[in-house]
Amino acid sequence: MGRLKQQLLEVPSSGWKQSRVACHRGRMLPGVDIPDRGARFRMRGAVEGDLLDIARLDGEVFPATPYPFFVLRQLFAMGCVPLVVEDGERICAYVLSSGQDGARCWILALAVAPDARARGLGRGLMRETLYELRRRGVREVLLSVEPANSAAIALYRSLGFTCDEALRRDYFGPGEDRLIMRSRL
Ligand SMILES: CC(C)(COP(=O)(O)OP(=O)(O)OC[C@H]1O[C@@H](n2cnc3c(N)ncnc32)[C@H](O)[C@@H]1OP(=O)(O)O)[C@@H](O)C(=O)NCCC(=O)NCCS
Repeated sequence: MGRLKQQLLEVPSSGWKQSRVACHRGRMLPGVDIPDRGARFRMRGAVEGDLLDIARLDGEVFPATPYPFFVLRQLFAMGCVPLVVEDGERICAYVLSSGQDGARCWILALAVAPDARARGLGRGLMRETLYELRRRGVREVLLSVEPANSAAIALYRSLGFTCDEALRRDYFGPGEDRLIMRSRL
């Protein structure tokens, strides 16, 4: 069994009762209880009606570089369906991956609402996404991350991503430097 597959099948320490949750686009999935505060989270594929909520969350988490609603809408129409976590009242986390370019794919966004962090939601979303991409034949996943974003970099490294390129200066415009990380599935 490959290293990534092993990681995906491990039950995380952060509270997910299942090591992964099957993702069927738009279908509601069984909720996953997070024991520490008795909260109930549900991971599922997004439907069109979620996109405004996702745009709101994206704007809250990335105030300087949010995805506008119309971009999310266009990506959705092209088959880029976010995977979301809802807590009963709102969407509190989401991940978005690109369409497949041969055996390659990009993670376009990962965001967890500030008050929902450190409960395993980011890891759970990434694990499920990587599992699904691998199942679809993707063999290389790339993403960009701010060099000072130590929390995200730690998460990505723990999932097998490495960074073997120099910092890309002004990657997203003036002053918006990024590291490119990649993982072979
Ligand atoms: C980065 C982010 C997605 C992590 O989501 P999360 O649900 O809080 O993370 P998890 O609880 O699943 O933790 C997964 C791992 O992330 C890392 N991590 C999370 N928060 C961290 C922190 N404050 N400091 C250092 N590492 C951290 C750890 O490696 C952690 O694993 P561990 O619990 O075994 O130590 C979340 O902090 C976030 O949305 N940040 C703002 C948006 C962002 O930076 N997105 C990524 C852009 S590339």
